[in-house]
Amino acid sequence: MSAMTPDQLTEQVLTAYAGTPDPRLRQLLTSLIRHLHAFAVETRLTREEWLAGVEFLTATGQRCDSERQEFILLSDVLGFSSLVEEINAAQGATESTVLGPFYVPGAPVRAMGDRIGRPDDGSPTLVRGQVTNPAGEPLDGATLDVWQSSGNGLYDIQDPQQPPFNLRGVFVTGPDGAYEFRAIRPVSYPIPADGPVGGLLRSAGRHNWRAAHIHAIVSAPGHRPVTTHIFDAENTYLDSDTVFGVKDSLIRPFRPSGPGDPPDVSYVAEMDFVLAPAPETG
Ligand SMILES: [Fe+2]
Repeated sequence: MSAMTPDQLTEQVLTAYAGTPDPRLRQLLTSLIRHLHAFAVETRLTREEWLAGVEFLTATGQRCDSERQEFILLSDVLGFSSLVEEINAAQGATESTVLGPFYVPGAPVRAMGDRIGRPDDGSPTLVRGQVTNPAGEPLDGATLDVWQSSGNGLYDIQDPQQPPFNLRGVFVTGPDGAYEFRAIRPVSYPIPADGPVGGLLRSAGRHNWRAAHIHAIVSAPGHRPVTTHIFDAENTYLDSDTVFGVKDSLIRPFRPSGPGDPPDVSYVAEMDFVLAPAPETG
């Protein structure tokens, strides 16, 4: 019996999965197998490298717990999260970007205009705007789920000094689609570098800093939700964000407040969100 070629082996594996009953799962599995095999052939992957890969993924999984999601971090620094967002972007809607590893569902619903953090978290900033459909019509009952790190660069779940849900909140619009909340001016922060993903970045000679941002998931009945950020236009990391999350359309000035602005804020940022109608389901 002659030795099997890599191509023959790949075909044999694909055949073994060709009977997967669910058609979408069949497509995902066979495409993954094809690309994975092609990767090993193209790089002439050694046994040691294969094992190093297995150990890296094992360590990545072992680093995950209820508060740390090293796999999302890995997906983020490889630009994979951004790619998936890109592929699934809705035409005419606000651009989306990475969810990131620090989202926590279940943040408290707050009254419009409320402060999401503590007075000492950072420079008080009013964030406001409107949620509309692509025609510019305001969306009633739109929900903004927002979160950000404190001035020390840490999210509440990374920092025992912060109470749960600090710098997080949910805001629901009225018929005018308008929203506003009091946040802090966002700061750059390093993504966690003490795990396998930090090691990967060091091996690649890349820094681990994120461009300063406020997170938002914006949703409304009958519309496609958008997971996005508001970026600070004056930030140094806009061109080299470690997770490839920056999009020009999401960058906003955080201007110093002036006469006519509420006296308790130092900066004002304005960001409107556009949601596309959800596809018909049937
Ligand atoms: Fe973030």
